[in-house]
Amino acid sequence: MPIAPRHPLAPLDADELSAARQIVLDSGRAVVAAEDVRFAYVGLCDPPKEVVRAVDRGEDVVADRQVRLALLQGPEANVVEAVVSVTRGVVDSWLVVQDVRPPLQMEESIMVLAALEENPEWNAALDRRGIVDRSLVQVDPWPAGTFGLAHEEGRRITKCLPFLRASPDDNGYARPLEGLLAIVDMGRAEVLEVVDTGVVPLPPQLGSYYPEDNGPLRGDLKPLSITQPDGPSFVVDGNLVRWQKWSLRVGMDPLEGLVLYTVGYEDGGRVRPLLHRASVSEMVVPYGHPGPTQAWKSAFDAGEWGLGRMANSLTVGCDCVGEIFYFDDIYADERGEPRTRPQAICMHEEDYGILWKHADLWSGRTEVRRSRRLVVSSIATVGNYEYGFYWYFYLDGTMQLEVKLTGIMSTMAVGAEGAGGHASLVAPGLAAPYHQHLFNVRLDVEIDGPDNAVFEVDAVAAPPGGENPFGNAFTQTATLLESELAARRRVDPARSRAWKIANRDRVNALGQPTAYKLVPGSVPTLLADPESSVGRRAAFAAHNLWVTPFAADERRAAGDYPNQHRGGAGLPAWTAADRPVVDTDIVVWHTFGVTHIPRPEDWPVMSVEYTGFSLIPVGFFDRNPALDVPSTSGGDGHCHDG
Ligand code: NI
Repeated sequence: MPIAPRHPLAPLDADELSAARQIVLDSGRAVVAAEDVRFAYVGLCDPPKEVVRAVDRGEDVVADRQVRLALLQGPEANVVEAVVSVTRGVVDSWLVVQDVRPPLQMEESIMVLAALEENPEWNAALDRRGIVDRSLVQVDPWPAGTFGLAHEEGRRITKCLPFLRASPDDNGYARPLEGLLAIVDMGRAEVLEVVDTGVVPLPPQLGSYYPEDNGPLRGDLKPLSITQPDGPSFVVDGNLVRWQKWSLRVGMDPLEGLVLYTVGYEDGGRVRPLLHRASVSEMVVPYGHPGPTQAWKSAFDAGEWGLGRMANSLTVGCDCVGEIFYFDDIYADERGEPRTRPQAICMHEEDYGILWKHADLWSGRTEVRRSRRLVVSSIATVGNYEYGFYWYFYLDGTMQLEVKLTGIMSTMAVGAEGAGGHASLVAPGLAAPYHQHLFNVRLDVEIDGPDNAVFEVDAVAAPPGGENPFGNAFTQTATLLESELAARRRVDPARSRAWKIANRDRVNALGQPTAYKLVPGSVPTLLADPESSVGRRAAFAAHNLWVTPFAADERRAAGDYPNQHRGGAGLPAWTAADRPVVDTDIVVWHTFGVTHIPRPEDWPVMSVEYTGFSLIPVGFFDRNPALDVPSTSGGDGHCHDG
């Protein structure tokens, strides 16, 4: 069946996914039977930028729609990387990559649990813990990491941690079956080793967060309704969104989750480009506890599970309130068949307090404007944690990514010994290990065009004396980051450090290069030793900033296959070449996140913790671009203070 021409950045639809699957299976290149091929990744192959630009200029170009796939053929630790064209109906490339592992597979995870149920050593360990009803044992398969174990060689393995529920819908994390873990070959569903370091008493309390266990509920919350009687202010055409002066395309990648394309801002009758593509390229949750059930825990939730694969279907009035527009996510399951995840991406507008205000004391006239933002969001559930990804667009050209962390902490039982120096006691006999959540966002920037340069800007005190007789003076330094190694940088809140992404071929009315500034938060870098297993694998998290020249195959901060990877892939490998990054097509990579020292208040479910960064115009405009926002007051159009 021929595929009708689509915009090069339109999400893959069910017909295209089916066509990609059929092209793979019909190619005759698989070495296993068609029903045994597994589709570990199926995603849109980013089209060449010149094709996107030509189509957006209205030129009569038909995009070649290519699909990138990672295929599993049997239990070995290798992957077929295939690219197929659904436009031309052919396989464009087919490469067997040895000694790599794709993200953990759902079907295999279920087989792992079945294998454990049958395993005598596992059952003996459960017997030693006095567990009669095996149906109440919750087992979490974790990415195993890399520690030089013989089990790791040539296998796709998982480490499984058990918990005991009191009832089928109980919070298992309240009662870890401490001291017990199993190492299982996922491809072969073969239990390789059961490790039992000794029985630790079950924590005595349950950890329900359900309303029926936490009454009486508050009765004095009055309804708070958000209504837009004339509807929202955005317009949606396929995956193209226009809101106020913003335009952008919205997508979903199985691993990266939300993806934004061709983000631009209309100014003077034309759309000025800002970002060609933006996504969370990787994230890691390294745990800081040295014990045998904890020390290996470092989940790469994008590359080992997938922020799109784990995305929720969102519900109005709960996940999102107001006038909501939802995008469905059309994806391929592990057999390559198209599926729909309804309402995977939520879009709406939010009032955000005041945008600007001044009360003129001489005339008594007050002008105040409401701030409003467009919110594009999705939420992924990865095991015990939830991650919400919220892109915000404001009326004054500011954009922001906020990550909301919630869900249930990973726990360990500690008996009467206390939590020790690497975990917090959160309930009697129950501790949550210290850990970090470190995200890396990949920003394929195009500020006013493809060729950009990055300056590190610091506010620094001037030396006293001489030209600073009163010692009050400070200045701004702007250091051009000329090459990849020079552009490995860390935050410095004491200097208000930010990174300015400038187009030195374009100037504003004041003669300044047009620019946007990446404003980081006070965010950590990786605390693990750089030579540790996770230190090598998550080297992207050792720096808050990286800059690379654009390369289509440099997509993910820890490389394409972080699962069981020995480390060094991705940003550390690419930037070792120390390529120049000045006045060329560059990609800016920003690592941000939180170090989580758990609190009792984070238990049994944690309220949202926030992290993220902003991109704000700096000389991109000639003056405040939001002077044309009308007042929301009635009557004479401005707000009085008396
Ligand atoms: Ni946490």
